[in-house]
Amino acid sequence: MKVLIVGLGYAGTRFLKAFDKAQRGGSRVEVAYVDLLQRQVQNQHLATVGAALEQFRPAIVVVSVNDDQHARVLDELHGFRGFVICEKPLVGMHDDPGRAEAALSRVSGFCLNLIERYSEATVRLKGYVQACDLRLIRANFYWGKDRINDSRPTCGATSEVIHAIDLVQHIGGRGRGIEITGVLGSRSDFSVSGDGVLDSVSLVGTLGDAVVTGYSSFVNATRKREVDFIFASPEGNLVYAATVYDTPAWDVDRLRIWKRMPAGEQVLLDMLTASGDGEPELRTIRKLMRLVEDVLGHVEDGTSPSQPFPDLRTALSLQRLLMRVERDAVAPAPVRYVVGDGREFLNEGDWERLG
Ligand SMILES: NC(=O)c1ccc[n+]([C@@H]2O[C@H](COP(=O)([O-])OP(=O)(O)OC[C@H]3O[C@@H](n4cnc5c(N)ncnc54)[C@H](O)[C@@H]3O)[C@@H](O)[C@H]2O)c1
Repeated sequence: MKVLIVGLGYAGTRFLKAFDKAQRGGSRVEVAYVDLLQRQVQNQHLATVGAALEQFRPAIVVVSVNDDQHARVLDELHGFRGFVICEKPLVGMHDDPGRAEAALSRVSGFCLNLIERYSEATVRLKGYVQACDLRLIRANFYWGKDRINDSRPTCGATSEVIHAIDLVQHIGGRGRGIEITGVLGSRSDFSVSGDGVLDSVSLVGTLGDAVVTGYSSFVNATRKREVDFIFASPEGNLVYAATVYDTPAWDVDRLRIWKRMPAGEQVLLDMLTASGDGEPELRTIRKLMRLVEDVLGHVEDGTSPSQPFPDLRTALSLQRLLMRVERDAVAPAPVRYVVGDGREFLNEGDWERLG
């Protein structure tokens, strides 16, 4: 199976490790890459996407260039008939999603990397909600980390809030999408991508009859990724669920579901995903391994994925929602985080800090 990774930076390298690990697990995988830079890896480097499609003939292409380059790379894939895995968001906030849709019209399959769908906590909660026919009444999220002075370009908080929005829709949406009714934000020079990049957003919206609120930020002092849900059960009880992702380390996630009874709290489910052993860098790709194994199985012999892929339709509807967030966010004058003589970048080797 030939896999082409376009953009071998932080996210692309995670995919390279996941495909390498899948190979050690028995799948026959050959990975080549396209990047503006030649990276310190053994894999074949190709100069352009066009040359790679012609010479390497991949069955799977991973698009893991920076947000503002997705549209250009998807254009270069126009007419490609293999499987595409694309990093979130689908395209930049000022690109044309319709053009990306046209470029991908002939692919055999598509998966947006909404990695938290592959968390055991998400899978268990979604399964519980379906099995018990729970109806979402209220959801609230807090989803942030510190990317101030990170060297990687970004379209900003829209690239972060997408995880939380998708989780709420995926777990409680019953196929519907969130309608945003209000957005506040803040802008700053936190990123190399500009002096007024949206760094945080506060949202309110509806999902069917449920109300959704949340805050997401790339200038949060600590990594904090939590989504809370309140459901109504068919028996007329309130059922609470709290998820906490990537705490205290990447890929360590927690789910707690409980019911409040007159006599006190009744815990219905309480789980923590295993912290895992082995190389520190591999410990952080357990969710990505599931995604990669799903794609490999599907492309190799049509094996059904462990859960439906976040498909192009989902990617497009999330994209339109994010563009609305970017457009409508009411923000004060941008904050200045470059307070010294110049920008001091984060240490790129710190895998616990990156993400
Ligand atoms: N799913 C997740 O949880 C998650 C986590 C981190 C990053 N991401 C996403 O992954 C993407 C990449 O982010 P990153 O953190 O790896 O950034 P990065 O800067 O570390 O890597 C991007 C790579 O793409 C290369 N590149 C840029 N433009 C290119 C082009 N036109 N052609 C070929 N190569 C090009 C760069 O040289 C670099 O090696 C972004 O869209 C980001 O939002 C997703």
